[in-house]
Order: sequence, then C-alpha cells, then structure tokens
Amino acid sequence: MSTTKILFVCLGNICRSPMAEGTFRHLVKEQGLEDRVEIDSAGTGAWHVGEPPDRRATAAARHRGIDLSGQKARKVRPDDFEHYDYILAMDQENHMNLLRMAPDEHRHKVELFLSYAPDQPEREVPDPYYGGDQGFEHALDLVEAASRGLLDEITR
Ligand code: 4NP
Repeated sequence: MSTTKILFVCLGNICRSPMAEGTFRHLVKEQGLEDRVEIDSAGTGAWHVGEPPDRRATAAARHRGIDLSGQKARKVRPDDFEHYDYILAMDQENHMNLLRMAPDEHRHKVELFLSYAPDQPEREVPDPYYGGDQGFEHALDLVEAASRGLLDEITR
C-alpha cells in the first residue's frame, strides 16, 4: 500500500503545526494506520529552528492525551514540495507564502488545513503565540476537527 505524506505548516513551527502533527499522528495511531502515513511539520519562518514546541502547546496537547515530545522546529525546504502529497497551511498568510515558494507542478498540494473542517465557521487556525491558554485550546479544537476530516479524505 502506498504511503501518504503530509506536511503541516505554520509560521514558527512551535505552536500550531506541532499541535496538528501531534493530533494527526495520534488519530492515525488510533486507527492503526501508522504504516500508511508519513507526517511532519515545518514553519515558514526560521526564528525557532531547532526548538521543541512551545510549552503551552505541549501542555494543552498533553491534557488531551497527545504527545508533542520529540518534535523540533524546522523551516520549510524547497524539496518539501516534491516530497509531500499534502502541504497544509494553518492560516492565509502561510498559505500565500507557500504558494509563492511552490514550483508550479506542486502548487495543487498547498491547501488551507481547515478546508478539511467544513463544519467549522473559521478558515484559519489563529496564531496563539501572543495570547493566553484559551488560544491553544481553540487551536486544538480546530486542528482536531480538520485532522478527522483529513483522515477521512486519505482513507476514502
Ligand atoms: P506558530 O506560532 O506559527 O503557531 O508556531 C508562532 C510562534 C512564534 C512566532 C509567531 C508565531 N514568533 O513570531 O516568534
């Protein structure tokens, strides 16, 4: 069976995309589909390269049984566009920047992550970095809904 490769992208790769990576990995494991999916996350910015996820993201995820340990921030690389099948942006700004970077033949892979959560009114996962804990909870709610939609899409 072929492997589906998914890259989650935000700005810093320390809050939203690590939560998306952890949440999606958790769901995939629950379904016993680890061998069918390759998952990673990256940032469009380089400020936090090499750092673990933000401790608020790690704590909020842990409360939901989701483990972010072992993740380390990296920047999006040119070869990501070739390698991954889905390149999923957390907000419009990341989406636009990814489209700008993507070679024409791979642009179709770049989408807004929340397009997989059509029942949610939001189209973007808001950046929780400068806010309080509630922002992380809200981001996780959105990420969880889109992760379920994405898993449905790739297992259809
Ligand atoms: P993220 O959050 O894109 O969800 O990882 C941010 C983390 C850091 C910064 C901005 C957003 N920053 O400007 O350092």
